[in-house]
Amino acid sequence: MNNGLPRPVTAVILVAAGSGERLGYGMPKAAVPLGGEPILMHALRGVVASGVSSQVCIVLPADAASLHASLEEFRQELADGGPILTLVDGGATRADSVRAGLAGLIDGVEAVLVHDAARALAPEYVFHRVVDALAAGAVAVIPAVPVVDTVKTVTRTSGDDSAIAPELVTGTARREELRSVQTPQGFRLSTLQQAHQAAARFDEAQAAAVTDDAMLVELLGVPVHAVHGSTQSLKITTPLDLIIAEGLLEGPLGIRWVEG
Ligand code: CTP
Ligand code: MG
Repeated sequence: MNNGLPRPVTAVILVAAGSGERLGYGMPKAAVPLGGEPILMHALRGVVASGVSSQVCIVLPADAASLHASLEEFRQELADGGPILTLVDGGATRADSVRAGLAGLIDGVEAVLVHDAARALAPEYVFHRVVDALAAGAVAVIPAVPVVDTVKTVTRTSGDDSAIAPELVTGTARREELRSVQTPQGFRLSTLQQAHQAAARFDEAQAAAVTDDAMLVELLGVPVHAVHGSTQSLKITTPLDLIIAEGLLEGPLGIRWVEG
């Protein structure tokens, strides 16, 4: 992990305040069980196992009573060391939740990784790649993987979803230039703060278009570097993703942060 360079004091903001509409469990996604433990706990164990951070600021949904119990148990497991765990309440959008996380950071933090709890199985080596790039002087770093599908742009030709062909293709993107972007995304703290202060002034349409932190930093004109991500860092979004994540936990790859 260490390329010999001094490491900035790093915190991880673990955003877990989403409602999980697309997963459809009728509870916040972070609380949905995966391999017998809430999705959030897998993500948190992964962050802690990577050893990259002095603090993990966990951004929680409002209705998180069951998560508080799991987190309290985990805090006791960490009694002899590990990062400081801070719990804060999330906001209406992911960006609001990241801002809440930024407000919960301790003094002295120099770099921050923002990680989706929904990417609960992100491997340690991806955290290390991001932190190594920050230590080497990058201001913003994201993990990315090549796109496997051909990606096209379309325009709607019918407002009726049941029309036989409601969309018309307007172009095909050059796939070799495309990347699917993941988390953890790493930033110099002052840069991410500046990016999120600007985004706090967005109107509703602009706010709705924000899908990651790097795009806010791109708007500042700051170069964003990409390191190799991992297909294992899938974002658990739909019921199919949950089945894949269960398979990864139980399968021959033996991916698990959870004991037993
Ligand atoms: N997130 C958050 N606060 C929000 C919205 C999202 O902390 N207001 C977090 C989610 O908990 C998740 C990550 O951002 O870890 C990525 O969001 P997504 O996968 O879209 O999760 P949800 O918003 O919960 O899912 P959905 O969009 O299906 O409701
Ligand atoms: Mg969402």
